Amino acid sequence: MSRYSLGGLLYEGKAKRVFATDQPDLVAVEFKDDATAFNALKKAQLAGKGAMNCRISALLFEHLARCGVPTHYLGLDAGDRSSHWMLVRPVRVIPLEVVIRNVAAGSLCKQMPVELGTLLEPPLLDLYYKDDAFGDPLLTEARLERLNLVSPAQRAEMERLARMINTELCGLLDRCGLQLVDFKIELGFTQSGELVLADEISPDTCRLWNRAVGDANDRILDKDRFRNDLGGVVEAYGEVLKRVQAVCPEPSIYG
Ligand code: TMP
Ligand code: ASP
Repeated sequence: MSRYSLGGLLYEGKAKRVFATDQPDLVAVEFKDDATAFNALKKAQLAGKGAMNCRISALLFEHLARCGVPTHYLGLDAGDRSSHWMLVRPVRVIPLEVVIRNVAAGSLCKQMPVELGTLLEPPLLDLYYKDDAFGDPLLTEARLERLNLVSPAQRAEMERLARMINTELCGLLDRCGLQLVDFKIELGFTQSGELVLADEISPDTCRLWNRAVGDANDRILDKDRFRNDLGGVVEAYGEVLKRVQAVCPEPSIYG
């Protein structure tokens, strides 16, 4: 049995619901089976996706914490909800999506003359304004300054953490035979003002290519399978989970 009781819904996103609990320093996150793409123009239910993303995120958050990255993660739920619920610290999420690209793919190849698969050295860091109504636009320096969401020091710390996360995830996923092509993270401030990694890290928010496969479609083990109608989405997520589980300790249970 968990040592907390669930409170009201605080926030519902496309892939998760966030609930208050009876403890002010604890919130519960439910990972949904809903899959969306292209700002929710494309939608589907993928049975088991929520549970897999919850577990993959838990394993990656714990790995990053061991590497010295502060995260909102506290543990998986101990009760009936254990498969797709995690407990986290309440965080005021900064509405900036930080994307790191190690290899050219996705929107980069649509917006610049760079060929799919080109290695990006050093990795490219892009900031997007997290707002569905505006379609999460890519920000310029001037627009970022104008939005005034973070101070220059906080922005520098966000970028430092994002690059550290990239280094640590690349190392771990490499051991799984997976190439971390790119990923999106969200960061936020805890009640005490600490900048921490929030949200999730999963095949919904990363591009992951199977290093052992050469074919440009067959190697994809992430949400591009859904975006591009390649099929086998749940199987791909399951493969990622299996590989990450094989190199990480069991995730901790909260409480
Ligand atoms: P992009 O190439 O479409 O800009 O995506 C870059 C990375 O960010 C990719 O790993 C997928 C992830 N991502 C999200 O997590 N959420 C989003 O809404 C988008 C557009 C991308
Ligand atoms: N998460 C975004 C959406 O729903 C976009 C994407 O991941 O492609 O719509």
